[in-house]
Amino acid sequence: MNHTPRAAEALFTPEARDNPVPVYRALHAGGPVHRLDDAWVVVCGYAEVDEVLRSPVFQVKDSGFRERTRPGWTAEHPSAAMVGDSVIRARAPHHERVRRLLSRPLTSRRVAGLRTAALGHTRELLTGLGAGTGPVDFVDGFAYPLPIAVICDLLGVPVEDRGWFRGQATDLSYVLEPAGRERDLTRADAAASGLMEYFARLVGLRRRQPEQDLVSSLVQVSDGDGGRLSERELVANLVLMLAAGFETTASLLANGLAVLLDRPADRERLARDPSAAAAWVQEVLRYDPPAQATDRWATEDTEIGGVRVPEGTQVLLLLGAANRDPRRFAAPDDFDPGRADNQPLTFGAGPHFCLGSALARMEAEIAFHELLARYPRIASAGTPVRTDRLALRGHAELLVTLG
Ligand code: HEM
Repeated sequence: MNHTPRAAEALFTPEARDNPVPVYRALHAGGPVHRLDDAWVVVCGYAEVDEVLRSPVFQVKDSGFRERTRPGWTAEHPSAAMVGDSVIRARAPHHERVRRLLSRPLTSRRVAGLRTAALGHTRELLTGLGAGTGPVDFVDGFAYPLPIAVICDLLGVPVEDRGWFRGQATDLSYVLEPAGRERDLTRADAAASGLMEYFARLVGLRRRQPEQDLVSSLVQVSDGDGGRLSERELVANLVLMLAAGFETTASLLANGLAVLLDRPADRERLARDPSAAAAWVQEVLRYDPPAQATDRWATEDTEIGGVRVPEGTQVLLLLGAANRDPRRFAAPDDFDPGRADNQPLTFGAGPHFCLGSALARMEAEIAFHELLARYPRIASAGTPVRTDRLALRGHAELLVTLG
């Protein structure tokens, strides 16, 4: 293990939030596992991150863990309580049952059924994007509105309420940052309370009058499951779907366009051939993943990659670094949509593997082909502005001219 904390500490600097790749390189040079301090270990190696995510010895930080390490913290923070009641922080065997309920509406077959609606939203938003003259912000005009429209269709959020969601979901997603700052947590708490209230009302409405949407089908499966999912858990999971699904997909779209703006040959190919989009999107997911990190804790004395890890150690798993591990990917800093065996850890691995990966891929594949077919001369109109985050990393602004 590398005991010098300096490379790992550099992760928490503004420079690393702007561009973590130099820190990842320094970490890889020092080995796959680094001790940050007495409580934390940082893992950057692909094989080691994958192993931790799949191992039952390492668990998500459920409310029990939080109560032991920070008594009273969950009760004080509605956002932490909400995430703690959701699938992403649930432990086996409860986790498997909740996950089964939530995964039904997100199977590849159900997602394929959303294709036509996603295509309609994409075309409408692209028309809106080109309505004015001069540069436009792709983040504001497309990257956020598309996943919001798709996830709100899926959940059954009425159209008139959607405008409110962007700010709420962005604020809430700060709770998923492993090293969250207090001011961000305050925003996340306010958003969690508002969204929990909103979805509690919507659940009540759909219980009385079911529709063809995810809220109605989750109410039915959960009521049919003997009500073993409490009302609070049901609502928390609906809010989580929004938070986990929309900020990340928006980042995939903006991060992907930022890559494309530098690669005219890719632009031509994607505009011409929709079938090129899948491999291309897969490489964006590896190269600039919207979720750069997640965490776990060791439930017993163990080891990672031959390194001793005492019980109670918290483990920061750098998905973004694992995707650039030179032991796993040849020339990892090159963007190469043709790479063989391209299996990044962007959607995680093991029992908590992302439930929305098919949906996110489908949106991105449609979006990039349609965008380039409509605006083949799209070009950068300013320096891209990154979001100031470690874990959920995207763009705050991406100005373009459409040609
Ligand atoms: C590019 C887009 C996305 C990325 C990069 C992403 C990434 C991730 C990652 C890394 C995890 C695992 C976290 C962990 O193990 O600690 C995860 C879990 C999850 N994601 Fe996504 N996600 C994306 C889109 C979506 C969408 C569109 C939805 C919903 C419609 C969604 C719903 C979920 C849920 C419910 C979980 C928790 C699964 C569980 O704990 O069993 N995600 N996601």
